[in-house]
Amino acid sequence: MGMTTAQIADLASINPATGEVIGTVRLQSRDDYEQAVARAEAVGASWRRLPAPKRGEVVRLIANAMRDRIEPLGELVTRETGKIRAEGIGEIQECIDIGDFAVGLSRQLYGITTHSERPDHRLYEQWHPLGTIGVITAFNFPAAVWAWNAMLAAVCGNAVLWKPSLLAPLTAVAMTGVVHDVLREQDVFKPSNGADPCDLFPLVIGTDETIGQAMTADRRLPLVSATGSCAMGRTVGGTVAGRLGRTLLELGGNNAVIVMSDADLDLALRAILFGAVGTAGQRCTSTRRVLCHRDVIDTFAARLVEAYRSVRIGDPLDQATLMGPLINELAVQNMCNALGEIANEGLDVLCGGLEGIARHADEPGFFVEPTLVRVPAGADPRIAWQETFAPILYLYEFADLDEAIERHNAVDQGLSSAIFTSSMHAAERFLSADGSDCGIANVNLGTSGAEIGGAFGGEKDTGGGRESGSDAWRAYMRRQTCTINWGSDLPLAQGIQFES
Ligand code: UN1
Repeated sequence: MGMTTAQIADLASINPATGEVIGTVRLQSRDDYEQAVARAEAVGASWRRLPAPKRGEVVRLIANAMRDRIEPLGELVTRETGKIRAEGIGEIQECIDIGDFAVGLSRQLYGITTHSERPDHRLYEQWHPLGTIGVITAFNFPAAVWAWNAMLAAVCGNAVLWKPSLLAPLTAVAMTGVVHDVLREQDVFKPSNGADPCDLFPLVIGTDETIGQAMTADRRLPLVSATGSCAMGRTVGGTVAGRLGRTLLELGGNNAVIVMSDADLDLALRAILFGAVGTAGQRCTSTRRVLCHRDVIDTFAARLVEAYRSVRIGDPLDQATLMGPLINELAVQNMCNALGEIANEGLDVLCGGLEGIARHADEPGFFVEPTLVRVPAGADPRIAWQETFAPILYLYEFADLDEAIERHNAVDQGLSSAIFTSSMHAAERFLSADGSDCGIANVNLGTSGAEIGGAFGGEKDTGGGRESGSDAWRAYMRRQTCTINWGSDLPLAQGIQFES
């Protein structure tokens, strides 16, 4: 990497459970970025000529290498982000799963053939690699979201440049290390132009100003895939659109669960607890609102309070822990600010709250208590429209399904949603065109913890992008419509006559 000394600085990665430095990395410069893109372009030119199933073979080796290292990688995710060990390991499992998915996909990448209106003509579509893909990830899924993009983009024939969150750089270094080890050892892909196969997966750790802005402005990156806040998405989306590039945006959520009076409350309780408290409320799919039928809200609120009080908060590596810390001091501050607004609005804090934060103030690390807030019937507090990246859950009541769906869809974001009911009518209504307006809609399971097989992403301010399974691979390829005339005439489309 280039050594423009002026811009070199060290970045410390902090364990949010202890406040201790785990390691430091060098922040990369604009020069480093330029070299990484140039090298990715060079190796990409050779990679895209390798048959897709061969590219799949390389990805299979990568997924297997992740399999072999699932525990240390998962524990590193836990150390760096504070998510509990089961979730850290689960995150690497998600990387492996998308790797396996990509291997199968490498023998598909289908285009359609359709019927030409002209005799002796064949009309079909094919999909080609797009070019070097830029991937910007957030701290909360420091490995999986990269893997969703990188494994698919790779089998599609692209190089993938990764700018990770500055809050989780070591996971990015480790994941890239695994991939580079495989690329150095494998003998499936030997670039004809002498390029280094490792350059297919460049990692560029740097600030938004230096690296992020370079990526969004760079015409060599036909697609920038970015995960983060709606504000970040507006900046990235605006700049990339300005050069007529493409973006794949996976932004904030304000995900709700509707609990009908005929719901299985045991299931609903477990799903909401995992959705709201899991990952300390720091998933874009975290449950932020519960809309509960007025006939069951008092019972359900009491059960939720009981469940919240039993959540073990502490060392995320300890098997008994259900909730680790928030990512940093700023996140605790943001939660305090939201709780301040909740107090100003006069909402009822059922458990947690500012007192719950105060109870952990003298400990090392960034621990808080999960907070449950009851919104009075008919009220619509503005604070609940925001995505506070913390375990705050707002409990609303409703009288009928129409009211629940209206309230459900009223917010700006549209990522994940769920209903708990035993009524087919209610479930189907929720899934209908007049139901949930989200990219993900579930019946009798929660809002978080999506599988890789489905397309992942959301509508409205969530950005509209789709990653991971289904046909999300198409975002990483360019479509080409081809017509072949195998006859000896030249019939024109629409029957046009053009004879001299
Ligand atoms: C995110 O928070 O950015 O559905 C992704 C889930 C995970 C992915 C979350 N599979 O909760």
